[in-house]
Amino acid sequence: MAKMEVGILGATGIVGQRYVSLLADHPWFEVRVVSASQASVGKKYREAAKWFIEPPMPEDIGELVVTPPDPQLFKREGVELVFSALPSEVAKQVEEDFAAAGFAVASDASAHRYDPDVPILIPEVNPSHLQIIEYQRRNRGWSGFIVTGSNCTTIGLVMTLKPLLDAFGIKRVLVATMQALSGAGYFGVPSMAILDNIIPYIKKEEEKVSSEPQKILGRFENGKILPANVPIGASCHRVNVLDGHTEAVFVELGRKASPEEVAKVFKEFQPEPQQLKLPTAPQPPIIVREEPDRPQPRFDRYAGEPPRAKGMAVVVGRIREEPVFETGIKYMLLSHNTIRGAAGNSVLTAELLKAKGWL
Ligand SMILES: NC(=O)c1ccc[n+]([C@@H]2O[C@H](COP(=O)([O-])OP(=O)(O)OC[C@H]3O[C@@H](n4cnc5c(N)ncnc54)[C@H](OP(=O)(O)O)[C@@H]3O)[C@@H](O)[C@H]2O)c1
Repeated sequence: MAKMEVGILGATGIVGQRYVSLLADHPWFEVRVVSASQASVGKKYREAAKWFIEPPMPEDIGELVVTPPDPQLFKREGVELVFSALPSEVAKQVEEDFAAAGFAVASDASAHRYDPDVPILIPEVNPSHLQIIEYQRRNRGWSGFIVTGSNCTTIGLVMTLKPLLDAFGIKRVLVATMQALSGAGYFGVPSMAILDNIIPYIKKEEEKVSSEPQKILGRFENGKILPANVPIGASCHRVNVLDGHTEAVFVELGRKASPEEVAKVFKEFQPEPQQLKLPTAPQPPIIVREEPDRPQPRFDRYAGEPPRAKGMAVVVGRIREEPVFETGIKYMLLSHNTIRGAAGNSVLTAELLKAKGWL
């Protein structure tokens, strides 16, 4: 099978670099164009990107010359699919321009997440929401389309709520997060602010963690996504960890379930991407650790098999009863914020789009 040519918008940033790394040697996709701001345009990628992730920069991508985010330039290179890691305020217009020009856009920016005709896709949770693409195209007169991923903290949470909702029902959820520095971008949190410290506020984060799951867990019906009703209270905090968001989750289930039953439901979660054996789908999607002191960011952030799915699994531990609620359960979870929470989720979405004939 010939590989599909793809482009990356915002390719030099933290999430953009993850795309470059995850798409190196991808069996279905080949990076053809890397794009960034005027400050980077015209430079070779290796000069424009301050590379700060573990796997070395792929040699061939380092040689590409960074372009502006111009759909015509991408078209000339044969690109059909673009991954967007742009700041939200830039993404709004640029992503629309690409969709109007016929590109499939898989985005991590929040600019279009809340548009009623744009899905927030977590491939393991709401693959049926892809059907809204037809309505989006019709509404907007686009030959292309936009699919977004959720906020990085939401992804890990919703991946665990979905099997619980299906098995037991959920009355309400409380979550306290411990979020990594990379979630704020390279220049996000000054070292003087975070060393020896915790910052108990992340702008707009609690609102996103409470509201995005309603759309993701909602039902697609007659061209609309009808929101779920799973009340979520969140308290979000920045901690001195490089990568990997940790979350303490308290769930009032619809009916009583033991920690063993909950662990079984997590372990048996086998949604569509896993059944289809998509290249970046982690097997299993949720890993349950039995040790009392796991998950931990240093040991669990790259969880996921096969090797292409490193950092794609959500790791859960410390599943126990929560006696404050009659049907309460609590657990810790960890997910890699720039892989599972951003670039990896969108690559998996693109694989699902291809497997289902949208590309
Ligand atoms: N970090 C995470 O964990 C995470 C998780 C989920 C979602 N997101 C979302 O993903 C997006 C990227 O986040 P990030 O952390 O990777 O940000 P970042 O490190 O600041 O990178 C931003 C990228 O956008 C480019 N850019 C900036 N202004 C531009 C313009 N006017 N035109 C074209 N390109 C422009 C930058 O290019 P230059 O290098 O040339 O400036 C850079 O490549 C954001 O919308 C963020 O909210 C981030």
